[in-house]
Amino acid sequence: MTTLPRIGIVISTTRPTRFANRPTQWVYEIARKRTDAVFEIVDLRDYPLPLFEEEVSPRFGTPRNEVAKRWAEKVASLDGFIFVTAEYNHSISGALKNALDYAYNEFNRKPATFVAYGAVGGARAVEQLRLILAELQVASLKHSVHIGMIEFLGMLQQGKTFADFPYLDATAEPMLDELVWWATALKTATDKDRAEPEEALEKAAA
Ligand SMILES: Cc1cc2nc3c(=O)[nH]c(=O)nc-3n(C[C@H](O)[C@H](O)[C@H](O)COP(=O)(O)O)c2cc1C
Repeated sequence: MTTLPRIGIVISTTRPTRFANRPTQWVYEIARKRTDAVFEIVDLRDYPLPLFEEEVSPRFGTPRNEVAKRWAEKVASLDGFIFVTAEYNHSISGALKNALDYAYNEFNRKPATFVAYGAVGGARAVEQLRLILAELQVASLKHSVHIGMIEFLGMLQQGKTFADFPYLDATAEPMLDELVWWATALKTATDKDRAEPEEALEKAAA
């Protein structure tokens, strides 16, 4: 029997005064009400990885670094991802890119969506992230939440909260619907491959 998909909400920035906690908590509170998936917050701060220093790509060998092993195990335990991402110089944070470099097979054939924030809603970072995820064989979905300048500055400088921008909730729901659909579908297929490994190998070789 296939169990509910497990979705990781990845906090992708690590600096002490980061804004990231607020959109993470917001989307988690919406997501956790669902009964068709299980959600957990995965904080990159809990995985203080060195700048990539392994001998080979994680595609071809398990990293030797203990934090990297723990990170790969966490990624392996998840069936889908919501990347909560800022935009750093029109791209993702160095911390997120480094973390993505530290796992490979554990990401394959899993879906991802995005909650992004910044001057243009973090859109440029998300587009760059999609390109990286293609190599990791992550299915990046169309639906995403973009917290733009008005909402972002409203919360940062004017004491506003997500409750002042209810239309953001309306963009989160279809994003979560799609993510859970894809996570369930891909998990079902992956579970079947694991249950019938010989058949899966024959198909891959054909
Ligand atoms: C190194 C750096 C580069 C940044 N570049 C951009 C950028 O290209 N576009 C943008 O909208 N905001 C940019 N910002 C502003 C961030 O959107 C803002 O600082 C945000 O709070 C960062 O996310 P965090 O608080 O979770 O770290 C940049 C911030 C930093 C620290």
